[in-house]
Amino acid sequence: MNDSNAFPDDFLWGAATASFQIEGATTADGRGRSIWDTFAEIPGKILGGDTGDPADDHYHRYPSDIALMRDLNLGAYRFSVAWPRVFPEGRGKVNQAGLDFYDRLVDTLLEAGIQPWATLYHWDLPQALEDAGGWPARDTAHHFAEYARTVGEALGDRVTHWMTVNEPWCSAFLGHLEGVHAPGRRDAGDTLAATHHLLLGHGLAAQALRSTGGPTRVGLAHNQAVIRPHGPSAEDVRAARRADGVRNRLFTDPVLKGRYPADVVRDLSEVSDFSFVRDGDLETMSTPLDFLGVNFYSPEFVAASADGLDPARVSGAGDVWLGAGPEEVHVSQGLPVTHMGWEVDPTGLYDVLLRLAGDSGGIDLYVTENGCAFEDTVTADGRVHDHDRRDYYEAHLRAAREAVDAGVPLRGYFAWSLLDNFEWAWGYSRRFGLVHVDYATQERVVKDSGLWYAELARTGRFP
Ligand code: FCB
Repeated sequence: MNDSNAFPDDFLWGAATASFQIEGATTADGRGRSIWDTFAEIPGKILGGDTGDPADDHYHRYPSDIALMRDLNLGAYRFSVAWPRVFPEGRGKVNQAGLDFYDRLVDTLLEAGIQPWATLYHWDLPQALEDAGGWPARDTAHHFAEYARTVGEALGDRVTHWMTVNEPWCSAFLGHLEGVHAPGRRDAGDTLAATHHLLLGHGLAAQALRSTGGPTRVGLAHNQAVIRPHGPSAEDVRAARRADGVRNRLFTDPVLKGRYPADVVRDLSEVSDFSFVRDGDLETMSTPLDFLGVNFYSPEFVAASADGLDPARVSGAGDVWLGAGPEEVHVSQGLPVTHMGWEVDPTGLYDVLLRLAGDSGGIDLYVTENGCAFEDTVTADGRVHDHDRRDYYEAHLRAAREAVDAGVPLRGYFAWSLLDNFEWAWGYSRRFGLVHVDYATQERVVKDSGLWYAELARTGRFP
């Protein structure tokens, strides 16, 4: 395309959320407990002692939230289904009232002319399944498939695009190695077993969704990291290879190529013998995708050691490594950061899209999350002048647009997030919305970034 301000005509403009982050109503209509309800009750785990209530009370306010989506000219809305609303015990008896909520949500979206894009697992595992072993236990993958089939049968006549799991790396590593996300475990063996069963669950769920016979297109939402060696030394390059292996290829190779990467299995031999892999698993995990969802926020630079580096720029790399072998460190580039402390570097999004387009063999790509937290204030004029967020979106969308020019089959983009919401361990302190939420009154105000995005979505051109 020669007009660099314009996107392809059929480019899909959306926004994303997740059940636990927005719904609230955690005990309504027979919803069971999730691991995030439990985790949030542990003192010190969530900033400010915040919990999943009230969040955005979206469970009750979805009609007016969908009206807002219309105001924003969204063509699609990515939401997640809360497993414990559908199966309060994770399996067994269906809670029809919980399923009915998503039925109403989907119908209301369609009436508004907005495509529903459903994620089945955005981290709210039913607590009963955690008690039975959680993702490190193989049965959880099978219960997930049963849940996928149930939701697919209920909504699959109207929901055409499904994402099985959201960011399996976060579930496995933040939840089972670092312990900063639910369920808060810290065990390298559990982390790898959870990784395997999340990916197996993905494959089984993809098959279950397709078996319902709806017009199903299935993908998953993967947070590929850009790992760049800090310097040209052989040690830094090796550190980056190892970090890329654990952070990216451990997830993409089974799903896209049907095998675990040999170098990663070797790197991790002290941690696990991978004996959780059974015959046929990799075939299931690599069930062909219809599309790949890409979540991107910020790239990471990795060095082999902190020697000779400015200590102020170095942080540990426990999040990319499992404690075996030499340590890598993260090195900041000294770029501006968001309220999350994440560096802003849109070239990272370009790199991720180019690489995944190559690795995924030509299937459609969608950015299923991209966005930023900044400290917003509602000013006297009743508005939120979040020009920092608008600039972030524009820079990343220009990078995405360049990726289209470079031949990447990028078909759409979902901003994270529609609404300010419960940002996991950060509670309500970090605001990612295109729409500001006053949690005390539940009043919504479209931010300036939201107005800008609405114009882009309406015209398909940079305003
Ligand atoms: C992603 C999560 C999403 C949100 C953003 C900021 O990792 O998928 O729920 O918290 O980060």
